[in-house]
Amino acid sequence: MLKNGLLPRYYQLKEIILGKVTTGQWQPGQPIPSERELCEQYGISRMTVRQSITELVNEGYLYREQGKGTFVAQPKITQQLIQLTGFTEDMQARSRRPTTRVLNTQMWPCDKDTAGKLRIKPGQMLFRVQRLRLADDEPLALETALVSFMGCEKLLEEDLVASSLYTLLETKYGVPPLEAEQELEAGLAREEEAGLLAIMAGDPVLFIRRITYTNRGRPVEYAQSVYRGDKYRFYTRLNRPQSKV
Ligand code: GLP
Repeated sequence: MLKNGLLPRYYQLKEIILGKVTTGQWQPGQPIPSERELCEQYGISRMTVRQSITELVNEGYLYREQGKGTFVAQPKITQQLIQLTGFTEDMQARSRRPTTRVLNTQMWPCDKDTAGKLRIKPGQMLFRVQRLRLADDEPLALETALVSFMGCEKLLEEDLVASSLYTLLETKYGVPPLEAEQELEAGLAREEEAGLLAIMAGDPVLFIRRITYTNRGRPVEYAQSVYRGDKYRFYTRLNRPQSKV
């Protein structure tokens, strides 16, 4: 039974479900009770139950599967926006198992826009890799990286399924990623991205563009990524600027 007369019923049920999810009483992948069961258990209408569940689905705590029911989602990945890290190390730090599907690798003539970002001439050949990045077999991001350094064509021979790009740049090619500039922009998944990311076309995504710099501020990578909006949360700490007076 719901008790607090001051809070809307759907909100109270939402808090109850959220409590079970965040304390681990209900585990990721586990089905939650049916709408009918929740109605009976809490003495509320189906519409109210549906509203609570819909909000929790929209917030990424639950997901629905057509014809099967509603399940507890994996918690979102909270990504700090302070340190420069690669996908593999991000996942390992969270005890998630990173895997990569390499969609293609090739040498690619640099376009004008990218040339400006990488401070090279348009037409110069770059190493280009498109990868689908997964954690515990769940697709999280689609990344296209353009890499520029002397001898970058050797990357064509690397096994990017087994190796992290950042680790290779650092340990084998002498161009360690040291700093980056990054922008994030909200958007909607296009058909092709959605298929790869196992979401629906039009679902929310984040477009992330990163220019990575190596020694002496030399750009080494320009990466454009599409991250699933239902899987990521970004965190940064802000300081109030010191007053000038
Ligand atoms: C992140 C960045 C990409 C970078 C990748 C390297 O996902 N958004 O710009 O290419 O990390 O990851 P890894 O070292 O796992 O290949």
